[in-house]
Amino acid sequence: MMIKRYPDSESLARAAAELFVQCAQEAIAARGRFLVALSGGSTPKAMHHILADAMRDQVAWDHVHVFWGDERCVPPDHADSNYRMARETLLDHVPIPPEQVYRVHAELDPQAAAETYARTLQVQLPDGRFDLIYLGMGYDGHTLSLFPHTEALRESERWVVANYVPTLEAWRLTTTPALDNQARCIAFLVSGEKKADALHAVLRGAHLPEQYPAQLIQPREGDLLWYVDTEAARLL
Ligand code: 6PG
Repeated sequence: MMIKRYPDSESLARAAAELFVQCAQEAIAARGRFLVALSGGSTPKAMHHILADAMRDQVAWDHVHVFWGDERCVPPDHADSNYRMARETLLDHVPIPPEQVYRVHAELDPQAAAETYARTLQVQLPDGRFDLIYLGMGYDGHTLSLFPHTEALRESERWVVANYVPTLEAWRLTTTPALDNQARCIAFLVSGEKKADALHAVLRGAHLPEQYPAQLIQPREGDLLWYVDTEAARLL
């Protein structure tokens, strides 16, 4: 595990975009495809803009396959949709073949959506390994849609589950550590003062994954990178 510190959110986003370029080049050279899972939330937006603009020509987009680590149970054009955020900030601006964007069909019944997406992942990830997964972390130490004290934390087999989140009074769809911890590289992007307490608890506190689900992310063979800015890392 490596903690990579940056002075501000913009330099963090640039470094995270450089990781995308580097991992893509390595994966495409080695296996002909780059299998990347994007995160939801707001932190990834700045990185997406850099990939869609300044670094656009450094990626062989026709060999890139995009997935999501989790999704809200809303239609793809809903303001809360992680797919919509990625489409608006990145996918509409790069020449990635549409058939290589694997949207979670979150408009379906949650269980059906989870099973459908799991089948897609089984087909597209023959060895079950993403090349790169981007993750965020909430103020409560959640990641993906693995929220504290929710059912999904205890899933040890399935790669995708529907997870009811009482604090949000909403269903979510999330990949699980059973899948994600097989990845070649996992990069958390954590920015801002409000994340400082949770980041300290996750990285420096006791192992309490029920309370701090981000602690469940421990890649078996792959790299675990924490991209943090000065504000978020204040207590480290
Ligand atoms: C989601 C994400 C979630 C997110 C964190 C951090 O679907 O919202 O998967 O885990 O990464 O909540 O979100 P911010 O980047 O907006 O702080």
